[in-house]
Amino acid sequence: MQTHQYEALIVGAGGAGLMAALYASRGVKTAVISKLYPTRSHTGTAQGGIGAALGNLEEDRPEWHAFDTVKGGDYLADQDAALVLAEGAIEAVIELEHLGLPFDRTPEGRISQRRFGGHTSGFGGQPVRRACHAADRTGHMILQTLYQQCIKNEVTFFNEFHVVDLIRNGDTVVGVVAVNIDDGELHVFHSKAVLFATGGWGKVWEITSNAHSLTGDGNVITYRRGVPMQDMEFFQFHPTGIYKMGILITEGVRGEGGVLLNDRGERFMERYAPSIKDLASRDVISRAIYLEIQEGRGIKGQRYVHLDVTPETVNRYLAEAGESRRITGEDVEAKLPDILDFCRTYLGVDPVREPMPVQPTAHYGMGGIPTDLDGRAISDENRTPVPGLYAAGECACVSVHGANRLGTNSLTDLIVFGRLSGKHMVQYCQGVDFTPLPDNPAGEVEAELERIRKSSGSTKPYQLRAEMQHVMMDHVGVFRTAEGMQTALDTVRRLKEKYRTDLVIDDRGKRFNSDLLEAWELGCLLDIAEVTTVSALAREESRGAHSRDDFPQRDDEKWMVHTLAYPTPDGEVRLNHNKTVDLSLAEKDERFKPKERVY
Ligand code: FUM
Repeated sequence: MQTHQYEALIVGAGGAGLMAALYASRGVKTAVISKLYPTRSHTGTAQGGIGAALGNLEEDRPEWHAFDTVKGGDYLADQDAALVLAEGAIEAVIELEHLGLPFDRTPEGRISQRRFGGHTSGFGGQPVRRACHAADRTGHMILQTLYQQCIKNEVTFFNEFHVVDLIRNGDTVVGVVAVNIDDGELHVFHSKAVLFATGGWGKVWEITSNAHSLTGDGNVITYRRGVPMQDMEFFQFHPTGIYKMGILITEGVRGEGGVLLNDRGERFMERYAPSIKDLASRDVISRAIYLEIQEGRGIKGQRYVHLDVTPETVNRYLAEAGESRRITGEDVEAKLPDILDFCRTYLGVDPVREPMPVQPTAHYGMGGIPTDLDGRAISDENRTPVPGLYAAGECACVSVHGANRLGTNSLTDLIVFGRLSGKHMVQYCQGVDFTPLPDNPAGEVEAELERIRKSSGSTKPYQLRAEMQHVMMDHVGVFRTAEGMQTALDTVRRLKEKYRTDLVIDDRGKRFNSDLLEAWELGCLLDIAEVTTVSALAREESRGAHSRDDFPQRDDEKWMVHTLAYPTPDGEVRLNHNKTVDLSLAEKDERFKPKERVY
């Protein structure tokens, strides 16, 4: 078995991983390990923009951005983190520009900005142009820019190496184990520090905007090695996925003036969010779509509504709102080329001429590996760091998004906290020696992979996956009840048992064995589905993306706390609710105090 040694290891080559790698590589020997070729990472699918209060088109301030983040998160966001995000965003976007990112421009040559859900001026006033964009390919541009910079900075890349275990010596993290997908061989990576930036876990649900690779590996690998998962009950549904397919249709469509319409042609968000309408936060809009559908106002009685960005419709509403701006078909083509392409290709629908059929799609996990503001993973409610372990991006929970993330804040999070983590890794690595590897560091995961390879049951991984996705969509989606979630939990636990005892895969070979690795990923998805459901059942309130029919009110008395989920030795999930929410901005400024959200 080959062993490699690097001071800093980054697992995952999306925006957070590459930003951390760039900064780490300025001080210490750094490698990135990625199960995908880096530019195929999911950051590349982020469309509409990166939020930063540059104020290029109208007045904007970082404290307004921090306020919107806290309010959007239904007051569960740690407020110190929200301020770091909002203040760091400005420098981060300018840094990206200087690194070569081709942002769209205003006629004066400044970075162009558009409106996005929940982003307002003046502490909750009118929608503000805060999303800095490169057409509807902002994430793609970030990924290309950072990858080029990492290559220039001589970061070593292990592409198509699938990390499957974390190595600890006592408490200290000393490396990871990875499978070289090409030949199936296991490799041990010995390090001083490891950062996980493995993205999300949307494949737990049936309809999702997430790519096939988003299986929560980093969260589960660390969890199985004793690190908790935080706030996993909060998983966001983006309001506008392509009907039945889930592919993302950017909120940028509504930022450019697009509107949601029901079967009667009503702009129904006027009823649910009278002030900012189609630009309310995602949890609010996803619930509104479901309610319209439930009440029979889905298009043709089906489970979708229309998203309309045709110039005729947009201009009618702009005129009604007293705005002088008008859009043309050419504007739509220039600003939203990818979504036009998706709709034309997959649906045969041309959004310049006709509305798009959309439904909420599982999009983003607000929870994850708990970290402090420097990206250090923490192990408990006292915020005790796990020596040598870091996390950034979607797999991490700083917690800056609270119970519901605002659009554009994921890209901001990647860049701001990726950078802080990379910087801290340098400081940490320069202050410690390598801790030795334990004996046979790959032994346990090797045994698990062999068990899957040689399993001789009768259930194929896709059968378990489909049942899990279906039950999670039905019962742990936009609306939840104790009864439904218990059904989901019982199902997931039954599926886990089958996974252990009755699995079979077709490919028993070594080379490019995606059958084996996807079966291993399914184990991660099942663990995440269980932790999500156990965490959601326990939280008896409605807050942000966690909306319970049986507990419809937010309960700040009892639930202004984070959830930490730990594995027990007998395979159960243990919860701890002693980690309080940081309310440091509210202590100084009334406006940040938790209150009912009105949009
Ligand atoms: O709607 C979008 O473009 C998605 C952005 C995000 O999730 O931040």
